[in-house]
Amino acid sequence: MSGNRTFTMIKPDAVEKGHIGAILEKITAAGFKIVAMKYTHLSQRDAEQFYAVHSERPFYGELVAFMSRGPIVAAILEKDNAVEDFRVLIGSTNPAEAAEGTIRKMFATDIAENAVHGSDSDENAVIEGAFHFSGREIF
Ligand code: TYD
Repeated sequence: MSGNRTFTMIKPDAVEKGHIGAILEKITAAGFKIVAMKYTHLSQRDAEQFYAVHSERPFYGELVAFMSRGPIVAAILEKDNAVEDFRVLIGSTNPAEAAEGTIRKMFATDIAENAVHGSDSDENAVIEGAFHFSGREIF
């Protein structure tokens, strides 16, 4: 899935606030096709593994607790230039710095509870997609 796919999660804060529908609408309106999607709940161990790259960062424990506290929506999205275009659509990590109209500006709580995940490279999009989906779940 190199080049034209990215991986996203609608995080527990946005699910709790009832924003799943509005966020999916923004994503599809921006031209992304959903090729895999599930409503799921990360265990603490799942969240630790998914964010292992951040294990030395001071916010790691808080991040793992947040990402495993409630259900999420996980999805693989398809579009030309998917990784970069999706990062633009979601906006800066800190919603206070995110551009108007971006998903994080509209729906995020703060830098820690920032509503959505978006892969930061084609390589990570493949790894993160495979973390959540088997080949039979991707269409
Ligand atoms: P990061 O990969 O830097 O951001 P992004 O999600 O925009 O690629 O960080 C991963 C997640 O870690 C981020 O979405 C929220 C959390 N986080 C914090 O809780 N505090 C922080 O200071 C940072 C930088 C990130």
